[in-house]
Amino acid sequence: MKLAVVGATGEVGRMMLKKLEEESIEPDGIDLFSSSRSAGSLMKFTGKSVEVRELREDSLRTYYDYVLFSAGASVSKVFAPIAASYGAVVIDNSSAFRQSEGIPLVVPEINGFLLKDYRGIVANPNCSTIQMVLSLYKIHRKFGLRIVVVSTYQAVSGAGNRGIVELEKQEAGSQDHAVFVRKIHRNVVPVIGDILENSFSVEEMKMVNETRKILGDSKISIWPTTVRVPVMHGHSEAIFCETEKPFDLEDLRVELRASEDVVLTDEKFTPAEIAGSDLVYVSRIRSFDSHRFLLWNVADNIRVGAATNAVRILKMHAGGV
Ligand SMILES: NC(=O)c1ccc[n+]([C@@H]2O[C@H](COP(=O)([O-])OP(=O)(O)OC[C@H]3O[C@@H](n4cnc5c(N)ncnc54)[C@H](OP(=O)(O)O)[C@@H]3O)[C@@H](O)[C@H]2O)c1
Repeated sequence: MKLAVVGATGEVGRMMLKKLEEESIEPDGIDLFSSSRSAGSLMKFTGKSVEVRELREDSLRTYYDYVLFSAGASVSKVFAPIAASYGAVVIDNSSAFRQSEGIPLVVPEINGFLLKDYRGIVANPNCSTIQMVLSLYKIHRKFGLRIVVVSTYQAVSGAGNRGIVELEKQEAGSQDHAVFVRKIHRNVVPVIGDILENSFSVEEMKMVNETRKILGDSKISIWPTTVRVPVMHGHSEAIFCETEKPFDLEDLRVELRASEDVVLTDEKFTPAEIAGSDLVYVSRIRSFDSHRFLLWNVADNIRVGAATNAVRILKMHAGGV
């Protein structure tokens, strides 16, 4: 298997390499690409040093079995179609193709069947969406979600390495902010991404549109508020749902226990405890009646929300699904 990783030096890129190693995926060859900033640096992969190369116009004009992209939407828009046209299956962490018709938006546990005999670009969903749909897909199949109201508490690493550095500098006393619209240290910022004409943010509309596409149901009414909090790793979500069919809480617990890569727990997990895990932790499930419930979920945004999902897509596709 011949692999390339574009954006290998970033938060997601580095984690994808780690995850490939953890899954004992040892390609015959791997090429690592970045911008000119990191070109020439050395990265370790399966015990060997690999030199990172600058992504250039002709870099991907060759055959790869898989090319993993995590260098932002503008890079993906230009380079992913080139890689795909040379025969690669592209797994793209950016938002570039998530809403494109004909491009599967995949969370393997939910709609991995879309990968069967598929070649071309596969889109990896947004981090907040992945952990939310993993905790809701079985409940949706059984009871039919009508309304989902979600408030997120998103770690600074969701904004990439620059987000981590900005919080670290503010912790050391800096008052400057460039990545987040307000100071994030000792604060909470209720905007992620630009505000659109409908007053929702880009991040919020990702949660709306991606959830509908992954669950294959355009009728679900989704009401997100996405919030940045001064946490390094791990997104949290408070989710309220209304269902078509009645349930009792034990019914929901049964579905959650059966949901792949989801842990239903009485423990009160926080991001600090679950960083480094590949699971979604669901707790505090509660209700006043038979059609509405609340739950809390926590997951590692770089792993569950990006790198692990991408490598799970690769594994499932390579195994023929
Ligand atoms: N962080 C998350 O929780 C998360 C979750 C889901 C999806 N994503 C998506 O994953 C992507 C990467 O996110 P990240 O958090 O890893 O960001 P990051 O830490 O800022 O890393 C960005 C990576 O892209 C590379 N890059 C930037 N411009 C490039 C260019 N013109 N050509 C080639 N490489 C270029 C960077 O290389 P240099 O080292 O040279 O700068 C670096 O390797 C984004 O699309 C993001 O939306 C992130």
